[in-house]
Amino acid sequence: MSKKKLCQVSDIPTDGVKTFKIDNLDIAVFSVEDSYYAIDRKCTHLKGNLARGKVKDKTIQCPLHRSVFNLESGVLLNHPGTLAGWFKKAKNTKVYKISEKGNELYIEI
Ligand code: FES
Repeated sequence: MSKKKLCQVSDIPTDGVKTFKIDNLDIAVFSVEDSYYAIDRKCTHLKGNLARGKVKDKTIQCPLHRSVFNLESGVLLNHPGTLAGWFKKAKNTKVYKISEKGNELYIEI
């Protein structure tokens, strides 16, 4: 695991999201209540774009079939809410540790 500079703190909108491609990874970084959470951008169900999902408390809901993931742990909290969930199950996803130093954010990948 290595720590890499991600961006300036100001690059992530307050209570918003920004996406990054780093080392062949596609990552969405969320700003939630003065904390930052990095998660694989593609949902583990059918690759829905979690960067367009709905954040509530410290969870993200996929915009396609409403799977819900914990932003801190990547644990799947709710399975897909439509018939699509019968054909393919979602699973836990990957999260990455974010740290802040001065005006910069770093990610461990
Ligand atoms: S693609 Fe995310 S729940 Fe189906």
